[in-house]
Amino acid sequence: MAARLPKTPCTRKPLVFPLALIPRMQIGPFALANPVFVAPMAGVTDRPFRQLCKRLGAGYAVSEMVTSRRDLWDSLKTSRRANHDGEPGPIAVQIAGTDAGMMADAARYNIDRGAQIIDINMGCPAKKVCNKWAGSALMQDEVLALEIIDAVVQASAAHGVPVTLKMRTGWCQSHKNALSIALAAQNAGVAMVTVHGRTREQGYRGQAEYETIAAVKAALRIPVVANGDINSPFQAREVLRQTGADAVMIGRAAQGRPWIFREITHFLETGHVLAPPLVQEVRRWLLAHLQDHYGLYGEYTGVRSARKHIAWYLRSLPGGEEFRRRLNLLNDSASQVQSVTDYLDQLNQSMDRIPAVYDADGRHLPEAVSHEEETNSMKLVKMSLHHEQ
Ligand SMILES: Cc1cc2nc3c(=O)[nH]c(=O)nc-3n(C[C@H](O)[C@H](O)[C@H](O)COP(=O)(O)O)c2cc1C
Repeated sequence: MAARLPKTPCTRKPLVFPLALIPRMQIGPFALANPVFVAPMAGVTDRPFRQLCKRLGAGYAVSEMVTSRRDLWDSLKTSRRANHDGEPGPIAVQIAGTDAGMMADAARYNIDRGAQIIDINMGCPAKKVCNKWAGSALMQDEVLALEIIDAVVQASAAHGVPVTLKMRTGWCQSHKNALSIALAAQNAGVAMVTVHGRTREQGYRGQAEYETIAAVKAALRIPVVANGDINSPFQAREVLRQTGADAVMIGRAAQGRPWIFREITHFLETGHVLAPPLVQEVRRWLLAHLQDHYGLYGEYTGVRSARKHIAWYLRSLPGGEEFRRRLNLLNDSASQVQSVTDYLDQLNQSMDRIPAVYDADGRHLPEAVSHEEETNSMKLVKMSLHHEQ
């Protein structure tokens, strides 16, 4: 997940944003605590995970995508996604679809269920979404994209709810139209634009580029959020500096690492790298996460869908891989919790804090960027969409 950044010598004085100068931003009437956001990830950023990220420093979180298909609104999956019980505001819900009228209905449906901000998904590269002309495929048809944006903005404005847009840099290398869509969206009344620095064609391959995001930021009056491959405090600060964006949005690097938000905000505010969390802190956060997770999904689905979260938390810890294999054999929440507790208690006997993943400048320590990682991201997106469309 390393991104293209200049190799600057460590002797250079770090750019510190004094507290008051850290970009503060606003979406419609909502002032956000800080400019470090959690990216929407279907199958990952459910309510328990979003709440944990917010508790650990994220300034804003968008829910997983909800389909615009009315026939699926009563499904267990969609009703779980539309459940915001106890979630601190603003409640932002992402909607995806191909038809302007249905998207407007989806906006109204979610506003009725507590959404305070509606986000339009024009960034998902999965075929399941794109074949139906939704997600990033919409970037190929600007007329339809604008029709959808207009309809959603109008439906939401009637309730005083701002609309935001999440997209990629374009359809393919030769068709990077993020700027023209962003300008049209701004004219249509969209309140914020997020750009993932890859084209649809790229999926999750290659590296995110930030030049297109910088161009979008330079041209727009509304806030612009930079997204793609941000995995460390140093990288977050560099992307803010390179793009001039108002905020950064973090996806995969937050999987199993929800404390990345406090690490980044601390670094932006002070220029210092926070010590890695105590094993006891990780134990507390993970066990609380699991209880919330079982509470939302119930025993059967909860135990199975918790496995990926646990594996992410433990992936870089000693013996984590071996533990993950054993974990997949456990089919009830009590033994899952016991096993996680035993593993972390044992780890705590050999270390107080989990191993550092950043160097003294806040850069991510070198780590292989494997093809497997890219394949896994796509696989997970597809799995998450399996019952959605
Ligand atoms: C498992 C997974 C699910 C995702 N689901 C969504 C989604 O529902 N809506 C969306 O706009 N983007 C989705 N994305 C894209 C992310 O929001 C983000 O744009 C992308 O992962 C790049 O950011 P990152 O490099 O920080 O991960 C998903 C990504 C992953 C890995």
